[in-house]
Amino acid sequence: MPEQDASNPKEFYPDVPQTDVTFPLKGSNSLDWGMKNRLSNIFDSSSGKTVMLAIDHGYFQGPTTGLERVDINIVPLLPFADTLMVTRGILRSLIPPTFTRGVVLRTSGGPSILKELSNEQIAVDIEDVIRLNASAMAVQVFIGGEHESQSVHNLTRLIDAGQKYGVPVLAVTAVGREMERNARYMRLACRICAELGATYVKTYYVAEGFETVTASCPVPIVIAGGKKLPELEALRMAWRATEEGALGVDMGRNIFQSESPQAMIQAVRQVVHKRERPEHAFDLYRTLTAEQQVSVG
Ligand code: R5P
Repeated sequence: MPEQDASNPKEFYPDVPQTDVTFPLKGSNSLDWGMKNRLSNIFDSSSGKTVMLAIDHGYFQGPTTGLERVDINIVPLLPFADTLMVTRGILRSLIPPTFTRGVVLRTSGGPSILKELSNEQIAVDIEDVIRLNASAMAVQVFIGGEHESQSVHNLTRLIDAGQKYGVPVLAVTAVGREMERNARYMRLACRICAELGATYVKTYYVAEGFETVTASCPVPIVIAGGKKLPELEALRMAWRATEEGALGVDMGRNIFQSESPQAMIQAVRQVVHKRERPEHAFDLYRTLTAEQQVSVG
């Protein structure tokens, strides 16, 4: 029989109204608890932002420069990533299961760089997403691309599956070579993804009018890093994007192709989470790089 707990007086605080929690992430307050909990593995609760480390490039372009040996070059970066964007193949074979932050699983694929990239299909079953304890699914959406409708259909099918089990979907707006990267296109692509139910959206930063892209998208936007830039330029881009409403970065090549990836990811964190000016973060990058060279030499 359970013990009687009459010895201590109970305190019900009848005069204190219950504290109800509002979930602060943009456009996400009506989501279910599981979705919010998974999103909290991605977006830092103090800054409200995220530094996602994107290493999924191999799903269509094979052993990308900087990703030839994930065990050697990427695993040491994991302590500095809020979230890892990765394929299930690399996750299972090379990422230590002791990594307990967010995993955003690449769930679309099909064509290689040798073929028409927009011809993707859903590439992972929702059951495997849950088995891997992923925090979100990432799917490429090719607005204006040859297989636009198919890619949008991939998005909506994953959203339906995610709704069933409480798994968020990251819509990745893919800009074809023939398309202009401007705010007008990004507004169109991001808004379509959000209207169709994407939990958050990844897009590219554009120098003119990026704030209109974030303002007209009702859910969080993170930016891809894109092609490798000089480190200071990449830090400036991250700073401007977050100033103009992005809730973080999903950065790959500008981190893992940097001369000093560990220094670069820490500098990016300073910009995104601490709102450090890019020039100051670049000083940190140089200091950490020099320290690393000394310890290696
Ligand atoms: C590309 O299709 C992948 O989804 C990458 O995750 C994405 O492009 C971000 O990586 P990067 O910063 O290298 O552009």
